Amino acid sequence: MATDIGIDIGTSKTVIFSSTKIILEMDNMVTVDAETYEPIYFGEKAKQTLGRTPDSLICVSPIERGVIADYEIAEAMLKKYMNTAFGNKIFRPRILATLPAGLTELQHHSLANLLESAGGRNISVVEGPLAVAFGLGIDTETPHGTLIVDIGAGTTDIAVISMGGITVCDSLKIASLDFDNQIARYVRKEYNIEIGPLTAEFIKIKIGAAVKRDIEVAVLAKGRNVFTGLPESFEISSGEVYDAINETVNSVCDGIRQVLNRTDPDLVADITDDGFYLTGGGSQLCGLPEKISKYLGIKVHTMENPSYSVVKGAAVALKKKSLLKNVDYQLRSIRELEIK
Ligand SMILES: Nc1ncnc2c1ncn2[C@@H]1O[C@H](COP(=O)(O)OP(=O)(O)OP(=O)(O)O)[C@@H](O)[C@H]1O
Ligand SMILES: [Mg+2]
Repeated sequence: MATDIGIDIGTSKTVIFSSTKIILEMDNMVTVDAETYEPIYFGEKAKQTLGRTPDSLICVSPIERGVIADYEIAEAMLKKYMNTAFGNKIFRPRILATLPAGLTELQHHSLANLLESAGGRNISVVEGPLAVAFGLGIDTETPHGTLIVDIGAGTTDIAVISMGGITVCDSLKIASLDFDNQIARYVRKEYNIEIGPLTAEFIKIKIGAAVKRDIEVAVLAKGRNVFTGLPESFEISSGEVYDAINETVNSVCDGIRQVLNRTDPDLVADITDDGFYLTGGGSQLCGLPEKISKYLGIKVHTMENPSYSVVKGAAVALKKKSLLKNVDYQLRSIRELEIK
């Protein structure tokens, strides 16, 4: 039996969507043996070892800033995830994979290759923002501008879509993971406490905000005192987190503005009339949609389950293949492709 699946291999996680539902969602993290590089844990289990591994183990993020950083580990991880999703069924799913906008043909090819080694066939690749537009049911064929912004863990994908393709885009290397990094930096500087990436993410999700909250909230967290090396608890407020991440939030806003600066004025006028579409897990930061909207002076549309909008859009395109006529790789085998 043939199955079509959409797959979004992001910086933080892989999501697989088949016909009507999410069939797999796993963290893109692998714990490997430091000597042999043999994978030991995958996904959530590997993420839990982040910052906690003994010298004999290393935690690897095979996808960095939306692109494959460690091909071998990424291949082992995807094989494992495909196996988890489909078990031992002897069919190889048809795949539409998404990637950040503005990558090279070689990077598209590399992702398609990776998926074929992981068990896929007839692999096509489409830019994430286009997939989001398909999922939203936007008629991308018309000469009308639509702005999609996807704030993920490692990349902020910004694309203006018109006439079936991406007209102007940028994939910023600034996204939600940078909010975590700024929180960790702040805590080290202000409290002399080192915190791990999971604690920084916890603080961001619990009390992070892109705008000053009317009512301050605070959270208790734990880390290690940089002088004594001993564990220490501290309390951090939402105002402090706001201060820690504000500059990074502004960089994201500015990156979007710069894409608009490079966009044809008529398309900008369309976007101003319609509003822009904001998605990605990182867009859930409290107050971020309002902040970007105010910065740009453009109305914002947010999405339910923003972590899934890319992969759901890919699944929509698989059902209506005419949407894919402008994508790099049509539904054909990777073996037919040649690197020019
Ligand atoms: N409620 C929340 N508030 C703030 N941030 C959140 C929230 N929930 C998830 N995030 C952040 O969203 C990010 C993951 O988003 P997403 O799943 O879109 O990333 P990705 O697709 O793996 O990465 P990328 O698209 O950059 O390659 C993580 O950094 C996570 O901390
Ligand atoms: Mg993503």
